[in-house]
Amino acid sequence: MITNTELEKKGNQFPNQIVSYSKNVDVLLFTTENNVALQITVLRDSLLRFRYATDSNFDKDFSYAITKYASTGYNKLEVFEKDNTYVITTQKLICHVNKSDLKITLFDAKDNSLISEDELGFHWEESYEFGGNVVKMSKAAQNGESYYGLGDKPEHLNLKGKRFQNWVTDSYAYGKQTDPIYKAIPFFTGLHNEKSYGIFFDNTFRSYFDFAHERKNVTSFWAQGGEMNYYFIYGPEMTDVVESYTDLTGKPHQLPALWTLGYHQCKWSYYPESNVKEITKKFRDLKIPCDAIYLDIDYMEGFRCFTWSKEYFPDPKRMVKELADDGFKTIVIIDPGIKIDNAYSVFREGLEKDYFCKRADGPYMKGKVWPGECYFPDFTRREVREWWSDLFKELVEDIGVKGVWNDMNEPAVMEVPNKTFPDDVRHDYDGNPCSHRKAHNVYGMQMARATYHGLKKYAYPKRPFVITRAAYSGTQRYTSSWTGDNVATWEHLWIANVQAQRMALSGFSFIGSDIGGFAEQPNGELYARWIQLGVFHPFCRTHSSGDHGDQEPWMFGDEITNVVRKFIELRYQLLPYLYTAFWNYLDQGTPMLKSLVLYDQTDVQTHYRTDEFIFGKQMLVCPILEPNSIGRRLYIPKGIWYNYWDNNSVEGGKEVWVDTTLDTMPIFVKAGTVIPKYPVQQYVGEKEIEQVTLDVYYKRGKESSELYDDAHDGYDYTKGRYSLRNFKLTGKSNELIIQQHKSGKFTTSYNTFKLNLIGLPFKISKIEIDNVEILLKDIHFDGDALIIDKEFTELHIM
Ligand code: GLC
Repeated sequence: MITNTELEKKGNQFPNQIVSYSKNVDVLLFTTENNVALQITVLRDSLLRFRYATDSNFDKDFSYAITKYASTGYNKLEVFEKDNTYVITTQKLICHVNKSDLKITLFDAKDNSLISEDELGFHWEESYEFGGNVVKMSKAAQNGESYYGLGDKPEHLNLKGKRFQNWVTDSYAYGKQTDPIYKAIPFFTGLHNEKSYGIFFDNTFRSYFDFAHERKNVTSFWAQGGEMNYYFIYGPEMTDVVESYTDLTGKPHQLPALWTLGYHQCKWSYYPESNVKEITKKFRDLKIPCDAIYLDIDYMEGFRCFTWSKEYFPDPKRMVKELADDGFKTIVIIDPGIKIDNAYSVFREGLEKDYFCKRADGPYMKGKVWPGECYFPDFTRREVREWWSDLFKELVEDIGVKGVWNDMNEPAVMEVPNKTFPDDVRHDYDGNPCSHRKAHNVYGMQMARATYHGLKKYAYPKRPFVITRAAYSGTQRYTSSWTGDNVATWEHLWIANVQAQRMALSGFSFIGSDIGGFAEQPNGELYARWIQLGVFHPFCRTHSSGDHGDQEPWMFGDEITNVVRKFIELRYQLLPYLYTAFWNYLDQGTPMLKSLVLYDQTDVQTHYRTDEFIFGKQMLVCPILEPNSIGRRLYIPKGIWYNYWDNNSVEGGKEVWVDTTLDTMPIFVKAGTVIPKYPVQQYVGEKEIEQVTLDVYYKRGKESSELYDDAHDGYDYTKGRYSLRNFKLTGKSNELIIQQHKSGKFTTSYNTFKLNLIGLPFKISKIEIDNVEILLKDIHFDGDALIIDKEFTELHIM
């Protein structure tokens, strides 16, 4: 690995005196005496793009990460020339460009406080070996600054003092120190003096980030080619930074079908058909909810993608239908490697059409994966992606497969030291031909994109579902993801928790880990604890490598089976809450999981917390990460919170000890929240939902909560056929008011509500529904719960 120090020692070059400045609407251009050009684009008041060219010529502007749907537009843009600087002012930011060396300093426009300043600033080193430059940027680390983000790094949430690399890598049984692993998301947030900003370094070459590691007052990032091209995103709220980054690189193109948020069962591999049926039957017999069953590589004929093993799956269409009749959606794996075999139509077609990647001197890129020697489609070519999308026609439209799982798309190559293609492999990069050095980090993303379009086309009018292992920034637009080949250890449970939070903070919320661990075998306790965490991850799937033993919920004895059932049932109850969080993510880019620092950055106690997180907007979750635990310490954010299990309230802003048993883990709900719940179903759509339970957590004061709903699949919601309920709660000493505001054109199947009133400081004597008074004797109760058997807009409970 090339370290910064080594780079610094070699022939670094720096910009010198600015000799020209011009402005074209929102694009400012500065050039220096030694021909360095800096282009600053003002995208929004809080979003500036910085691009540097070392010979006055910029590369063609092209990015796989940035979405065309990103919002742009600013309220103010002024540029002044001063003696030593140019000063650019927007409504949110003041940016100084130094005339003598092109260094940048950024201030908050409201109070002039310093947000970020270049240390050495932009510098570069020519790469004789490959051509082009190693491009570098260094900024001063501010006092007490913390750093977050970077995708799937299995490290402490706060990245301060550490260095990382972005190069997507197949990383079987990675550990806490392994870097890089599967994803390349060159985006981080910085936080100091209660203010947060973000930097997205949109460069797909192998890149590095150093967060005050090498020099404790410097944060730097650099890449082994391409342009210094980064977006500076100002908050000051970290949530706004993450939302802007997500807006820039794209929110998911549509809501996932609700069933995709159910529980998924996977193994390498369930086969033959009878084994698949045994597994699915057992779920129904034991009444453990489950929506999806996976077929790993063994369903294919000799690991040839888009084929079925005649021996193990003689009639896939019938099987998929039978599974569907029982509520199971079938999901199959598809890898990028296409077996070299002239009798195999996908291979022949790829060859005839010249769709496979080639080495620099002409031969095909040949590499070993599961099927043996393979060629690999160049997914960075539009025609190749279209061809790939069409390959899903039979699988999806005819056989009825409901989701596709893209694996090994780093791309992984076996038995070679670098685990992937050699650097010289050529890619089209959508009309910007380049070597693998540049295309590597987006290869998996482009494969997932092509798969996504295939599913979208052939599953229509249903919504597509894709899972990917490799990803670059922006991949969240197309697909969900998992954290790769983890291990059944307690440390990996910690890692899974950190990775899911970090991915959510990096704009990619639809994420989960292999529950129970992929490699090796968990004991029952570890499996139970992992399920407890996993049901709070947007993507919830047990997966394991079959060689190490079985990992179904019932493999660890009755006690564990019961714990697992209880938590999967909780997941199904919380589906409307989770779906609402997903809608928020889609609508606003709001992360579905929030690390405590993201939840309350003003509270310094949160800056180094890793275990606790906020699920959706108002639930605090903290996994049990050690064996034999009878409880744990955890930090409760400021405000009043209710313990989910016993409804006792606690004042936050401090660490507390929480007792747990094997069948509970700490969950708290913020006072004032209304949590919507569905009845337990064995799979999504099993029952028509006739009644929704609202867990209402009393608060003295006001708070609001949302419940989004729609047809749970299809695209009608994009035409306004959704239902959005906003519950505004006002708590007084002797009265609780719940106002409901409804919007959208969808009529939900339910209009009856069961209200669990938690923490009410008075005894109910009467209620008023939409100004009609109901006396105590006429109020419907189910146990302690209040039944409101019609739609209401205003409820007074006294
Ligand atoms: C890779 C995947 C894993 C899968 C296996 C076989 O290791 O990460 O999830 O089960 O390949 O396809």
